Amino acid sequence: MQPLQTTTEAVDTAFYVILGIDLVMLLGIMTAMIWFVWRYNRKRQPLPLSQKDKNLWLEITWTVIPTLLVMLMFWYGWEGYLSLRRIPDDAMHIKASARMWSWLFTYDNGKTAGKLYVPVGRPVKVELHAEDVLHSFYVPAFRVKRDTVPGMTNWVWFEAEKPGSYDLFCAEYCGVGHSSMVTTVEALSAAEFQAWLTGTEEAADRTADRGEELARQQGCLGCHSTDGSRKVGPSFKGLFGETTTVTRDGQQVTVTADAAYLARSIREPAAEVVVGYPPVMPPFTGLSEADLQALIGWLRSLQ
Ligand code: CUA
Repeated sequence: MQPLQTTTEAVDTAFYVILGIDLVMLLGIMTAMIWFVWRYNRKRQPLPLSQKDKNLWLEITWTVIPTLLVMLMFWYGWEGYLSLRRIPDDAMHIKASARMWSWLFTYDNGKTAGKLYVPVGRPVKVELHAEDVLHSFYVPAFRVKRDTVPGMTNWVWFEAEKPGSYDLFCAEYCGVGHSSMVTTVEALSAAEFQAWLTGTEEAADRTADRGEELARQQGCLGCHSTDGSRKVGPSFKGLFGETTTVTRDGQQVTVTADAAYLARSIREPAAEVVVGYPPVMPPFTGLSEADLQALIGWLRSLQ
């Protein structure tokens, strides 16, 4: 089914209709109130003008008009909600995986990215998955927000009308790294998007620096800096080859951060936790051996 409006239009229409009605009500009620206070002040009007205690038409009026206004607000809200929940037929499918604390987007051709690349002028349906705890997919520019729930598939759809970069947040508190769970929606023209999707650009990334690309894509940089500053986890700068104190089986031991240690730390982070940091990193078991080596090679280059 083809929606009549984009998600942005649907939400904005309902918002402005309700805001408009609210403003009319606010001004009307305030004006009437101030007028009555002034006009029927005891000094100006010491005795009641009338002893009537019923006015049928007045009661009908103040029942019917607000009912119509409320129904109008409901109508726009309901229509807007239906627009948000009706996926256009030609929507492109993209899978989003949320995990502590990054986003990973997977396209139907197997391509993955840490940013959500979309073509301008074409609706996309984003299928929402959570790998660990509750997160929430939130793109204010397209007025879409939906929780990602472990064991359950949610979705949103939206359409970017203009090329640009739009913020994408996690809007559900999901642990110490929640605030770094941000990325962007990159809306590209149809031709640029096609070029990106078919991966000519990625080949360049691969030769340039596959390890750094992976670190960004897998969300490592949300918790680990490359400039020595402290984030959720230890900085990557100068890490390779250094000795560090970790807690292993409840004992503090000193280890050298060599390739084997780094591989363990990526695949099984809970086994050895660096002293002074919380044991919160999720295991990255989905990485291929080649990708793992590329990451470690890049870490080595930060010495
Ligand atoms: Cu994920 Cu907050």
